Amino acid sequence: METFIRNMPKAELHIHIEGSLEPELMFALAHRNGVRLPFASIDEVRNAYHFTDLQSFLDIYYAGAAVLRQEQDFYDLTWAYLERARGDNVRHTEIFFDPQTHTERGVPFETVVTGVHRALQQGERTLGITSNLILCFLRHLSAEAAMATLEQALPFREWIVGVGLDSSERGHPPAKFTNVFDRARSEGFVTVAHAGEEGPPDYIWQALDLLKVSRIDHGVRCEEDAQLIERLRRQQVPLTVCPLSNVKLRVFEHMGAHNLKRLLNLGLCVTVNSDDPAYFGGYINDNFIAAHQALGLHRDHVIQLSRNAFRATFLDVSAQQQLLDELARYVGESPY
Ligand code: HPA
Ligand code: ZN
Repeated sequence: METFIRNMPKAELHIHIEGSLEPELMFALAHRNGVRLPFASIDEVRNAYHFTDLQSFLDIYYAGAAVLRQEQDFYDLTWAYLERARGDNVRHTEIFFDPQTHTERGVPFETVVTGVHRALQQGERTLGITSNLILCFLRHLSAEAAMATLEQALPFREWIVGVGLDSSERGHPPAKFTNVFDRARSEGFVTVAHAGEEGPPDYIWQALDLLKVSRIDHGVRCEEDAQLIERLRRQQVPLTVCPLSNVKLRVFEHMGAHNLKRLLNLGLCVTVNSDDPAYFGGYINDNFIAAHQALGLHRDHVIQLSRNAFRATFLDVSAQQQLLDELARYVGESPY
């Protein structure tokens, strides 16, 4: 089964590009840019990755992102992720970036988006990985700051498929961003939002009804609300679930307690993703395998997870069908 998982064609729909910054690259970029890090060594960085909740992670994640200064840094970061993704047989990826983490430090929006975009183009040409880019607003900052960020994105709208919402969830409900998301949709962007990771099921309702999202990022706390489960099932709203992240940030005490298999068995459109792979102990295959080992996923579960992800992409229907056909060929030819 592990070989079957590793070689299976897959799509990744929940990956923060800043969360793919491995300590080795963090140190290399700190050196290149003359940035002082609060860590003496790569080992010390890794040892700092013990989190108690979302906020304890975000504090370290934003500190690490301070080494990203030049367009080439964003290129190198994105390229390193794409090479890992290729190794995991990711055929299509939809990447989040957090422009406000950088513009707040004086790095121009254009520098960030150009570096990421250039790597994504190169990834399509040389690794055969197609991609979409999603701009996330930091929900701990104001709605006005989000609106200003959206306006900065408009000249680059051809490179950005949609907008999302991340950072500290509790106390920052989706409703805070209703106007920003209205404007984003009127400008032609699709919408997604982190909801129901640490926040209550009501935040998932708000994301659906106020922000009109096409997918929910995480969404695992939907399990507390039977009516919500029914809505998500009936409308086949994709949930971009991140198993290793949820265990690292103590949303679940251990992988055996994760609800991924239960949600899948209820008929929800669950997908598996890595979130912040450099911080949470692995990339997409590590997430599939950890969930499989702890929950006893069957072959049909694993295939369904990949099928769900291809259907949940923002690709057009014919591109989705090509990937689904590729998956069907893989399943048909696989000896397992
Ligand atoms: N949740 C909220 N914000 C984030 C996350 C997450 O899992 N990863 C990076 N920013
Ligand atoms: Zn996330």
